[in-house]
Amino acid sequence: MRSRTPLFNTEAEREGLRRASRFNAQLLDHLRPHVVAGVTTSEIDRLAYSYTLEHGHTPACLGYPGEVVPYPKSICTSVNDVVCHGVPDDRPLQSGDIVNVDLTTIVDGWYGDQSEMFLIGEVSDEARHVVQVAFDSLYLGIRAIEPGGQVDAISRAIYEYARGEGLDVVREYQGHGIGRRFHQDPGIPHVPTRPPNRTVIQPGTCFTIEPMINTGTWHTNRVESDGWTVRTRDGGLSAQWEHTLLMTEDGPEILTLTEGGPKEGQRI
Ligand code: MF3
Ligand code: CO
Ligand code: CO
Repeated sequence: MRSRTPLFNTEAEREGLRRASRFNAQLLDHLRPHVVAGVTTSEIDRLAYSYTLEHGHTPACLGYPGEVVPYPKSICTSVNDVVCHGVPDDRPLQSGDIVNVDLTTIVDGWYGDQSEMFLIGEVSDEARHVVQVAFDSLYLGIRAIEPGGQVDAISRAIYEYARGEGLDVVREYQGHGIGRRFHQDPGIPHVPTRPPNRTVIQPGTCFTIEPMINTGTWHTNRVESDGWTVRTRDGGLSAQWEHTLLMTEDGPEILTLTEGGPKEGQRI
């Protein structure tokens, strides 16, 4: 099958991508101190909305078309057994929660997309473990791919590591190509497919890796009545981290590195 992956090989395109992701990472730095016990996810959403508009940019999630209704908020906040697309609400975060904050911004027509986990107060060993394994699996996925490599290498690295840690990997949602659109080719599964996905990551490919790792079964429930929220089928915890990457001639460049977030290899 012919690939519909756009390649970004001019300096102007690559700078557009870098600037969008850099702003998105700054937004995450801005929000980080607020993701604490007692704060509602709606409050975090409002902070993201204001900061983005004050800088002249656009929250990509707000009004993003869904199967049932457009997405109603500027960010996704997925707490505990929510796998992804959790909609910010008026429940205060409480000690013991784990929460994923997923941000996507449009800067001059270019998209940047990333997410980070937060441990609220004192969390269980199980919660800390799933968050750590999800973090390390993202970097294993990043380090598994080189220019001209195949998508399957990313999926295998993530899946084998998570399974070895006694955890499972969500199949229904994937990483994705990104650029002048939010979601495009190539799809990046976090579990190896059969036959193996031999799609080649050429220099100029911009894409996300965003593994969702579960303590119990990999299965997710059907989307909830709000049209977006996705939970684990068995109520187990789920953790996710995401970066936007540009494959260059020299290897993957992580476009969404933050100043204040955990660094590769760090204990969370
Ligand atoms: N940021 C999510 C991703 O990583 C997508 C969220 S779509 C939304 O692809 F509409 F729910 F915001
Ligand atoms: Co995202
Ligand atoms: Co994404």
